[in-house]
Amino acid sequence: MNKKILITGGAGFIGSHVVREFVVKYPNYQIINLDALTYAGNLENLKDIEDRPNYTFVKADITDQAAMNAVFKQYQPDGVIHLAAESHVDRSIADPTAFVMTNVIGTVNLLNAAHAIWKDNFGGKRFHHVSTDEVFGALGESGFFTEDTKYDPHSPYSASKASSDHFVRAYHDTYGLPIVLTNCSNNYGPNHFPEKLIPLCIHNILHDKPLPVYGDGKYTRDWLFVIDHAKAIDLVFHEGKDGDSYNVGGFNEWQNIDLIKELCRQMDVKLGREQGTAASLITFVKDRPGHDLRYAIDASKINAELGWSPSVTFEQGLSLTIDWFLSNQEWLDHVTTGDYQHYYNNQYHGA
Ligand code: NAD
Ligand code: DAU
Repeated sequence: MNKKILITGGAGFIGSHVVREFVVKYPNYQIINLDALTYAGNLENLKDIEDRPNYTFVKADITDQAAMNAVFKQYQPDGVIHLAAESHVDRSIADPTAFVMTNVIGTVNLLNAAHAIWKDNFGGKRFHHVSTDEVFGALGESGFFTEDTKYDPHSPYSASKASSDHFVRAYHDTYGLPIVLTNCSNNYGPNHFPEKLIPLCIHNILHDKPLPVYGDGKYTRDWLFVIDHAKAIDLVFHEGKDGDSYNVGGFNEWQNIDLIKELCRQMDVKLGREQGTAASLITFVKDRPGHDLRYAIDASKINAELGWSPSVTFEQGLSLTIDWFLSNQEWLDHVTTGDYQHYYNNQYHGA
């Protein structure tokens, strides 16, 4: 079947893998990648598919309602997969308003634009909102987030994502807009911007810079290889039940300090350095305010209903990720010029 699908945030980390998955797997779909190309958006992430006939890039800002209306009018998409967002918790602590603008207002603008062109016939239409496990708040030592866990966001980032999730459901319940949601755990992999823990540490090991561990390093995250997230989005977009949400995670919990030590071990092997070289860069720094202790996803619904499970182990995924960064050091150099240095000299990381 032919479809026109608008993917927002397709030049970013996860979005670039979702765009590639759809462009390559569905040659009869027209994929429109809409992205404002903020500091986190980078068309280099899509170089290998940019000349495909079923791919179009549109530079536009989701905070601009008129621009969104015009894009929807011009392209008449049947489906939307919405990933565009401000995505970094530390930045949300420094500038919460930017997160309200893009994550809340931007999402509402997209919902309005979709509703305006779909309202007379919702048949075959779908708005897929890509969200995060952070909306559920923090777990203690045990337990998992399920789809029924009550929302309890703590950071400005997670509060903005929770708000956007509520708006997506509100448009379903109020106007009948066909929607699905996914709430995913921490992703890692190629194209990951080096402000997030794993790519930041890879970058700093390559430059002999400190590896900043917030607080005592005992905070726990559930890590998923980004291509497995893209495959989950494909499944939910096509087969998920209207109005439902699906939790996506790796069943792969790591305390930050253990994860960093494992990353250091693999980096020393791959760089042919003596074991302990990278780990000597580990530096405990001041904690993130409001830092959530532990996230862990129960992904049994998407597994049971749609047959999804992660395709790689963490060991394989981390190895693939390090290899990618080692072969793409130009990419790392490009994205760490300009504002990047300014931001990091003023955050938790020291000069
Ligand atoms: P990212 O920061 O790497 O990419 C975000 C993309 O959105 C960039 O290409 C950027 O240019 C674009 N963008 C930002 N503001 C925009 C605007 N106003 N208009 C148009 N485009 C804009 O983010 P990511 O890590 O790839 O996350 C993608 C989505 O997945 C987000 O919605 C995020 O909340 C969600 N998510 C991320 C993770 C994770 O571990 N990274 C986990 C679960 C969910
Ligand atoms: O859980 C899903 C979320 O995962 C996504 O919604 C977010 O978009 C994504 O950024 C990510 O959020 P986290 O805050 O968990 O990711 P981050 O890589 O920033 O941090 C991971 C953990 O490592 C967290 O406990 C904070 C800690 N940390 C982070 C950085 C950048 C450090 O100890 N040192 C660091 O330098």
